[in-house]
Amino acid sequence: MTIGAPVNRIDGRLKVTGDARYAADYAVPKPLYGHLVTSTIGLGTITGIDDAAARAVPGVRAIYHHANPLPVAEASAFFGTGGRSQQSWQPFARPDVRFYGETVALVVADTILAAREAAKLLNFEYQAQDPAAVFRAEGTESEALPDRGLSAGDIDAAMETAAQVVEQDYDTAANTHNAMELFATTAQWTGEEVTVFVPSQWVEGFQAGLATELGIPPDRIRVVSPYIGGGFGGKGTLFTWTSLVALAARALERPVKLYVTREQGFTTASYRAETRQRFRLGAQADGRFTAFDHRGDELSSRADTYVVNGAEATARMYHADAVRTEVTCVHADRQTPGFMRAPAETPYYFALESGVDEMARKLNMDPVELRRVNDIDAEPVDGAPYTSRSLMECYDIAGEAFGWSNYDPTIGAFREGDELIGWGCATAAYPTQMSPCAVRIHMDITGKVKVSVASHDVGTGAYTVLAQAAANALGVPVDGVTVALGDSRLPPGTIAGGSISTASNVTVIEQACASILERLGTTAQEMNVEQAFSEFGQNAIEEYAEWVPPAASEGAGKSLYNGRIRIVGGAEEKYVAFAFGAEFAEVRINRYTREIRVPRLIGAFAAGRIMNEQTARSQYLGGMVWGIGHALHEATEVDPRTGAVMNDNISEYLVPVNADVPHIEAIMVPETDTIVNPAGIKGIGEIGIVGTAAAIANAVHHATGIRVRKVPIRLDDLL
Ligand code: MOS
Repeated sequence: MTIGAPVNRIDGRLKVTGDARYAADYAVPKPLYGHLVTSTIGLGTITGIDDAAARAVPGVRAIYHHANPLPVAEASAFFGTGGRSQQSWQPFARPDVRFYGETVALVVADTILAAREAAKLLNFEYQAQDPAAVFRAEGTESEALPDRGLSAGDIDAAMETAAQVVEQDYDTAANTHNAMELFATTAQWTGEEVTVFVPSQWVEGFQAGLATELGIPPDRIRVVSPYIGGGFGGKGTLFTWTSLVALAARALERPVKLYVTREQGFTTASYRAETRQRFRLGAQADGRFTAFDHRGDELSSRADTYVVNGAEATARMYHADAVRTEVTCVHADRQTPGFMRAPAETPYYFALESGVDEMARKLNMDPVELRRVNDIDAEPVDGAPYTSRSLMECYDIAGEAFGWSNYDPTIGAFREGDELIGWGCATAAYPTQMSPCAVRIHMDITGKVKVSVASHDVGTGAYTVLAQAAANALGVPVDGVTVALGDSRLPPGTIAGGSISTASNVTVIEQACASILERLGTTAQEMNVEQAFSEFGQNAIEEYAEWVPPAASEGAGKSLYNGRIRIVGGAEEKYVAFAFGAEFAEVRINRYTREIRVPRLIGAFAAGRIMNEQTARSQYLGGMVWGIGHALHEATEVDPRTGAVMNDNISEYLVPVNADVPHIEAIMVPETDTIVNPAGIKGIGEIGIVGTAAAIANAVHHATGIRVRKVPIRLDDLL
């Protein structure tokens, strides 16, 4: 009944009236304020620190740096090696500077202004070296990761049989998280226990990471993050300042609050790494793909091997007689990158879907028909069947809404006045991943239900959707259900990342609700609360349930991006699970100025059971809008001489604004998947962004005849 219904967000009012508390909003008694100081060289050593002037600022309480460090017990392991942290090292351990903008000091004072003033007066002397901070710099180190590559069939022989080959390089830029909410931490000790308010997509992971860094048991750490002002990967891992703030609060015996400034967020937090991809695709004259070869180089820090390896997903998209993928981590003098919405698929599907469009041109085929010819029921690497795959339904429905039957492939066919009009399309896909999770559900005789789980609402609608799930499963109205999220004291939940949380949480909620109904001796359809409880003989009932995805491989538990996309399984047989979509873009390019506009973007997506049409649509639209940014706007510009980020603010780091998004439409294609998980749900948080950049790039080519093989596409690429 309530499933699928466009229920308004139950937290919407709290958010728009300012009643929702974010990490920096918590009122703690007599707080001190921290301010970070970051390095002004890109590589080298700190040779001296003059803090006399800074210490003289009234209200300064402490200045921490490598010569006066905070007692970090141990750096929490890097998430790429199964840990919870963004990077493998803590600041202040050594006088080394590993990249521009690295945290080199923390000033704590009575007021924010005093802390900032002192930070400004803190004088660091450095011995600087030339950093190798970008792909083309001398001195980067390439680390091949042969275990991460895929191989099936004889790639060279399959390439030989091809009538047409597309062989091209595609580059994607670094992108930086610029959520509305700045990074922050508030830490408050009560005796030996600490409460940490921090924007987090993963309170449990943060708690475990902090236990390592603080050297105390996790049960003495409470991590609180009920609301997040934008996340999508940026708040999925623990950052180094959180334990510094907690340790400073312990040392100074006062709560400490820290905001990380917008500029500092560019160099101390997470970001999407730049990639350089080599893509080779062979096809027979009828369009059938013979050979698929996708290799990616990804930039990371010196210390950490972080790769997203999106070819694991691109290789499983279409028919191919032979497949080969490779990934190489290129170590540079940069901070460790991390998750950003569809971390793997966004950059790699730009290459895949641009390359497929190039192949359609070579074969003189309609690009939709080329995808139809290569549509499959089982992926070509291991031959594993999809749990469900509605890709071509998505193309048909989005294509009809877009008017694709009027497509004329001739370059420049659609010119109107001074505008060159182009149409393009691309596939979107995102693997369905799940995580073990638990839930506690309390129901009383008045029909009130409380759902508690240490999962998260990163702004996606989880509060609402989980309430709908419980209401539906118990046969009670949704407005009687409250949901508690984002607190490490709640039953263990999933990370809100990898589009895993709805499928996992709804599955476990439905399990717990089934137990409640069983104990009450009723069903959701027959639910009469008062009668059920009077027969039960008690005024309230509580159930705790845990769920582990059936094919959760060893270690898959809480470790997201463990290098395998096939996390899900049915009872016996192994499947691959993806959500699919098709996006169509229209671009208009001024023939003189080459200004690029996207007046229309239409996507259709199939992702199993949809819990709430309204919040789901917002997810798709948000992803597509970010995709416009990925295609045309966003790039973190690094000065190769210094390693400094040159556009570390939101006036120069371009993101799409309302004027950039005139008409955008997301269509939900009904899909029933009885295999993927008991709830029949695939994730939808990320897929919206995946196909957008290629659809736009393909449209730019159709309008101009210019194939831009990198994002962002800027007007100077079309001159
Ligand atoms: Mo998402 S990048 O997994 O928060």
